[in-house]
Amino acid sequence: MRKVAFTNAKGGVAKTTTCVNLGAALALAGHRTLLVDCDTQGQVTKSLGVQAGEGLAELVQGDAGLEDVQIEARENLFVISGGGSLSGVKRMISRRDMRSELVLSEALEGLRGYDFVLLDAAPSWDVLNVNSLFYVDEILIPVSMEVLALQGVGDFLGRVKEVQRYRDGLLIRGIIPTFYDGRVKKSAEILEQLERHFPGTVWPVVRYNSKLSEAPGFGQHIFEYAKRSYGAADYDRLAKRLAKGG
Ligand SMILES: Nc1ncnc2c1ncn2[C@@H]1O[C@H](COP(=O)(O)OP(=O)(O)O)[C@@H](O)[C@H]1O
Ligand SMILES: [Mg+2]
Repeated sequence: MRKVAFTNAKGGVAKTTTCVNLGAALALAGHRTLLVDCDTQGQVTKSLGVQAGEGLAELVQGDAGLEDVQIEARENLFVISGGGSLSGVKRMISRRDMRSELVLSEALEGLRGYDFVLLDAAPSWDVLNVNSLFYVDEILIPVSMEVLALQGVGDFLGRVKEVQRYRDGLLIRGIIPTFYDGRVKKSAEILEQLERHFPGTVWPVVRYNSKLSEAPGFGQHIFEYAKRSYGAADYDRLAKRLAKGG
């Protein structure tokens, strides 16, 4: 079971979009995949047009069992929903005296039968995010092709390295450049800087594609909404890359 988090303290860099569409690509390729929504905004279920019932918050707080919270969204594609009730989980984690970084790991311990468990992290650096880094073995960092986003990557990686001192085996699998626009010089420049600063970690880009932003409004992933789009091609490529590694 590969456990991967899509994480970056910055919002709007396509963490959720990447988690949902890369996950959908894996599922379509026959990999049994679970998406775990760790964000209070709860966008993963909405993006896939499924009703969120009991989710991660109820699971962590002991009000629901693992079997209750795994929703089948599509063939091979399952979701544990996030949402506003995760605020209570953060308070609960903060109050715990011992090993508070392992609350999420303990709650998800009994998961079985998946090829991939993908976590959609919130755009912040809080107790739940740290918990995510103690659960997964790999992280993928989406970075949008903007100057400020690029500057944030160094800080973010610094924090991840702090966690790595206590969490053996946590691997920064790659940085995913998002919102890449080949017509804009800035995009190519930022990509070049990213490759220079983080040699060997930069994955193939996700191009800017309006279909990717429209699909969630229809409760569809990109392979349902526009399977011949750039967005579909890019996420299919990333899914193959992820499935190959590890
Ligand atoms: N490659 C892309 N091209 C165009 N719009 C995108 C692309 N990726 C994501 N979006 C849109 O950008 C917004 C932010 O993406 P989202 O995945 O919610 O970011 P995050 O989870 O990091 O906050 C959303 O409206 C999403 O639909
Ligand atoms: Mg998000």
